[in-house]
Amino acid sequence: MAQRTGCMIAIDGPAGSGKSTVARAVADRVGYTYIDTGAMYRAVALMAMRRGLDVEDDAEEIGALASELDFEFRATDAGAQHLFVNGEDVEREIRTPEVGNHSSPVSAIPRVREHLVAAQRAMARRRPVVMEGRDIGTVVFPDALLKVFLTASAEERARRRYTELHQRGEDVSYREVLAAQKERDERDSNRAIAPLRKAEDAVEVDTDDMTVEDVVHHVMGLLVERLRESDEQGA
Ligand code: DC
Repeated sequence: MAQRTGCMIAIDGPAGSGKSTVARAVADRVGYTYIDTGAMYRAVALMAMRRGLDVEDDAEEIGALASELDFEFRATDAGAQHLFVNGEDVEREIRTPEVGNHSSPVSAIPRVREHLVAAQRAMARRRPVVMEGRDIGTVVFPDALLKVFLTASAEERARRRYTELHQRGEDVSYREVLAAQKERDERDSNRAIAPLRKAEDAVEVDTDDMTVEDVVHHVMGLLVERLRESDEQGA
């Protein structure tokens, strides 16, 4: 697949819509770099929790904290990708339900978003990326070559997340996962800046009755179409 500068796939959607799995698989297939922006918001939440900062009372400190963090995604020997923050591998810690729940209010702090969006744009400056999150197509890369908005019903998304957490050995019930997800969806969709929203020119894909392979295949088809269109426009 062509390695062009500024070529960019944005994948947005709510928690549990399959963004990470699909974005990682598409990135692998086309040889682009996969960037999970949710991991970065989770890392800010983790660092704030470690310092005992409160989201309501210490929003300013959390904003300042975000500006001190250096983010780097590194491939592991096992073929996975881990997020390193100021040189520390935080991958395991950022995946707990507690950090996940905390990351939603942290991501609504304007200065946190400002720093993270700048870091995300810098990561994509010199290499083609598949970037997934909530605001990639609307705010971070409004000029992305391809924008995909993944959806699935709340129950199906909670079921997927529950299975994932159980496989990781987390002791949570399906009802807890569904309740936490609803709260997070609500907050992520209604916050003042960069709410979760489908970009007007994004292709919406409802994944309820699709396998991961189906979705990846569909996104690959859309990408080939976009690359052809952009070649024709450039010709
Ligand atoms: O995708 P995730 O569950 O790992 O994301 C964690 C939180 O970060 C989620 O509550 C929404 C927020 N987030 C965001 O506001 N913008 C992004 N681009 C990615 C995630």
